[in-house]
Amino acid sequence: MSPNPVKIAVTGAAGNIAYSLLWRIAAGEAYGPDVPVELSLLEIPTATGAAEGVAMELNDSALPLLRNITVTDRAETAFEGANAAFLVGAKPRGKGEERADLLKNNGGIFGPQGRAINDHAAADIRVVVVGNPANTNALIAQQSAPDVPAERFTALMRLDHNRALSQLAEKLGVLTTDFEDVVVWGNHSATQFPDLSFATVNGESVMEKIDHDWYVGEFIPRVAKRGAEIIEVRGKSSAASAASAAVDHMRDWVQGTEKWVSTALPSDGSYGIDEGLVAGFPVTSRGGAWEIVSGLELGDFQRELIAKNVEELKAERHAVEALFK
Ligand code: NAD
Ligand code: LMR
Repeated sequence: MSPNPVKIAVTGAAGNIAYSLLWRIAAGEAYGPDVPVELSLLEIPTATGAAEGVAMELNDSALPLLRNITVTDRAETAFEGANAAFLVGAKPRGKGEERADLLKNNGGIFGPQGRAINDHAAADIRVVVVGNPANTNALIAQQSAPDVPAERFTALMRLDHNRALSQLAEKLGVLTTDFEDVVVWGNHSATQFPDLSFATVNGESVMEKIDHDWYVGEFIPRVAKRGAEIIEVRGKSSAASAASAAVDHMRDWVQGTEKWVSTALPSDGSYGIDEGLVAGFPVTSRGGAWEIVSGLELGDFQRELIAKNVEELKAERHAVEALFK
């Protein structure tokens, strides 16, 4: 007999990312191939019609695990009994903008959604914020949900992590799966720190195979600015790759991973990152919970780049503190 369905809420359901994400979730890629899925789609009132159309297409796909779809513009309804929430709904940046420029427009979305999650979601709710600036939006939602354990609020760093693996695989002519112990620290912004200090490829040190100038001058900025590069080339911000990363994130959170991945979660104060800031860390996942990789020895270069992220995240937090309720 199949288990009870899992209820998954997705905001921004009529948007670009959702158009890829919803099919991956409904195919069982987050909770596994044996777990039926109920979808709850949240949109703003002017886009619920479009979201209804997306729901019709999902139904037309005859996906074996998909049980029920609700479309609503009420956060309380969307998060009622939700076991997982993908908070995607927010404005994307355009050419020449930084993600933090979106804080003024998007920050206001996440307080009410955090409160609705607090009051209506299931006890095991897991939240991943995709809407930018993702780390600080996750902080706003978390601060608005005092009854939910803080570590259930995360932000997406997995796209950055996947971009790092992809750049590296291309450089060394190997597969992305050949790497271990890659991490992207800090903020999902141009300040992020894709760190190869601990990385191995097929068991050998990556740092011994790459040129330091390429690492500092090309790899780090290319990964950190890849979102802007996609906007420049595609004319719109990344969508399918973001959806794919969000599925990777939730799958590993729910189903576990012994391999390091990068997740932004409320800091426990490790590695000089102020407690409570939602920052990217190296993590594994066991028993349905993320665990920050502990005991790593950081060098000066790593400490300096992580500190830049801490400063930026503190400034973002300062700018939105009025939204914490
Ligand atoms: P989009 O404009 O195509 O879709 C966003 C959707 O959100 C729209 O349909 C809009 O109506 C809806 N929306 C707006 N406010 C809402 C609210 N309060 N409740 C529910 N829905 C709401 O944008 P997109 O391309 O899907 O991107 C969505 C967000 O994800 C953007 O902020 C973008 O910058 C971000 N993003 C993040 C990452 C990441 O790695 N963290 C990657 C790519 C994109
Ligand atoms: C990305 O990294 O692709 C997204 O955060 C979109 C953006 O604005 O760069």
